[in-house]
This record gives sequence, structure tokens and C-alpha cells, in this order.
Amino acid sequence: MSFSSLVSDMTFRDRGDREETRSQVSRARSYQSTAATSVSISGDISSQLHGGYSHPLARAWQAERQLTKSMLIYPLFISDQPDEDIPIPSLPNQHRRGLNRLLPFLRPLVAKGLKSVILFGVPIAPGAKDILGTAADDPTGPVISAIKLLRRAFPSLFIVADVCLCEYTSHGHCGILRDDGSLNNALSVDRISDVAMAYADAGAHCVAPSDMNDGRIRAIKLKLIESGIAHQVVLMSYAAKFSGCLYGPFRDAAGSSPSFGDRRCYQLPPGGRGLARRAIVRDINEGADIIMVKPASQYLDIISDAKELGKDLPVAAYQVSGEFAMIHAGAKAGVFDLKAMAFEATEGILRAGATIVVSYFTPEFLDWLSN
Ligand code: PBG
Ligand code: ZN
Repeated sequence: MSFSSLVSDMTFRDRGDREETRSQVSRARSYQSTAATSVSISGDISSQLHGGYSHPLARAWQAERQLTKSMLIYPLFISDQPDEDIPIPSLPNQHRRGLNRLLPFLRPLVAKGLKSVILFGVPIAPGAKDILGTAADDPTGPVISAIKLLRRAFPSLFIVADVCLCEYTSHGHCGILRDDGSLNNALSVDRISDVAMAYADAGAHCVAPSDMNDGRIRAIKLKLIESGIAHQVVLMSYAAKFSGCLYGPFRDAAGSSPSFGDRRCYQLPPGGRGLARRAIVRDINEGADIIMVKPASQYLDIISDAKELGKDLPVAAYQVSGEFAMIHAGAKAGVFDLKAMAFEATEGILRAGATIVVSYFTPEFLDWLSN
């Protein structure tokens, strides 16, 4: 529960109320000894919980961790059209922006306490996509340009670059394909690790491969070591990334839907808890600094698995586009209050074990949170 919602909690009683309650109890002394209340008198002390959370601050202390601004990473869609600024229909309040629109948009957010962003490139120019995803590490492309621009403009902003090929490949898959359409893992890992290096060289504080090819964490870590920058780049693995329909709005935003087939060969099957645990352990052993689980709210058990398996590293959770869109749809239909639901969903993710949340609600949370 957040401090802001606690403050308005109507169950809080001040000292005056308590005096009154006590005197009522003493007047009704005979009632105290009835069978219904005897448990509280005759010794079962552990049954008495209410007192422990009788004050707003005491309620806040029940949470193992409080949601703070520094836990949040905000996703940005960067267009290769410098002046573009267009709303994404399936992602309420989210826009695709070109380089020229970035700083004016981010300046007030940074002033409100925005600490980190994750960048996704969106190539719109005709012919920008090919079978190798060549545009992913184009030195004049949107992501590399945005990394340099943001590093210069906001020295304290932590910049994460999502690393994948699906936004840049003509077929929309997250790697390089064989002639039969299946994923060529070796070529994909080669290419993905080159792209990660290009983003790290451009100044990204963190590279986050979301492609799910086997062995890419090790390949990226080795290249970071070889080029002497492993000590200054965080490697965040999308380790447990489940397939499903919750990425729909994102693919709309990034124009990254596969042109044939789906992502089931590389993203995890929704029931695959064992596979997720193996992927988490593998990526830790391959050199990941942070483990990510996604989607978040549907996989709280996997978040807590990640915390257990990787108890010495931070766990991140991605509250994905579909989760965000569902909360907006529910609020719009009057099913629940947007702010209340955003807090409940995000605090549930923290309770499961994450200390980093990638969320499209970040701008709202900057207004709602005090620290
Ligand atoms: C690209 C990528 C995706 C997301 C993050 N990186 C889409 C996908 O894998 O299809 C999903 C983010 C979201 O839905 O908000 N590989
Ligand atoms: Zn991808």
C-alpha cells in the first residue's frame, strides 16, 4: 500500500477515539468474559493482528518494500522520423516520438524524478527493414542517436537499451532465420551481441536483450569484456519471457509483429515454470547482472522464483503493454479506479520480489509518489 493512499485511510483512529473505545469496553465488563471473546483474554495472543496495522505508518511497515520513483523504468518508442509525435492507439497516453520531440517531452518528467528509460527503436522509413535487421545498430538510427542525445541532455538519467531485431527485420522475428523460416540461433546470437555492443559503445548504461536466443547473455558479456567496458555496463536479461497475447499493443507501437508464424519457439510457454527457472539460472551463470520476468502480474510466481534463484541480484519485472492496456480498459469501463488499480498491480509485483518495474504508468507514478 502506498503512503498516499494510506493518508486517506478512513479506518485510522486518533487518540481521542481510543479513549472512548476503552471506556465503552470497561462499561461492558461482563461482555468481555463471554465465550466469543474469551480467546483474546485467555491467552491466544497470536490471534490478535489488528493492532499491528492500526496506524497508517504501521500499515506501510508491513510491506517488505515500498514503491519509489527509483524503481521505475519508463519505455520510450523512438521513431526514425525526427519530428514525429503520434499517439499509439492501443497504448493510452503513449506516443511514438522522433529525436526532436524527445527532450521537450522528457524535461518535465526528469524534473519530477524520472530516473530511467528503456529505448525501443521504430524504423518507419520505407526500406528500413531487411532480413538481418541491419537498421538495429545503424550509427545514425533512432536508438543510438537517442542514447547520445539523452546522455548529453540528462546526465543523471539511467539509459537502458532494449536489444532485439524484431523491430528491424522484414519478417518481424527476434533473430536471423534459416531458409525454412526457423531461427538460426548461432547467427542470431552473433548479431544480437553486436547490436548490444553498439548500444553500449554509444553510452547506454544498460543493455537488455529481449530476443530469447540461447546463449546471448554469455556472448554479450564476453564482447563487453573483450572491448574493456564490462565494468561500466549493466547486463539485464529478459530471462523469463513468456509468449502470449499481452505484447499486442507493443507490437502495434513498434511495428514488430511477425509476418508469419509466432514467437513460440523462443518465448516460453505460459505453463513453463520449470523452463523459466532453468532460463533464470542459465542467464545468471552466463553473466546477467539483473534478471527480468515478463509479463509481470500474470507471473508473480516466476518473479518470486527469480528472487529465490537469484537472491544476490536484483529482479526486474516488465508490466507489459497488454497489462497496461487492460488496466486502462477496466478503468474506462468504470470497473475500478485507474490510480488504485495501478498501485495494486505494481505493489503486487514488488511483493512477489521485484525491485525494478518497467511500467508505462511511470509518468503517473511520478505525480502520485512523493519519493
Ligand atoms: C521485443 C520486445 C517486446 C517487448 C519488449 N521487447 C515484444 C515482443 O517480444 O513481442 C514487449 C513489451 C510490451 O509488451 O510492453 N522483443
Ligand atoms: Zn524481439
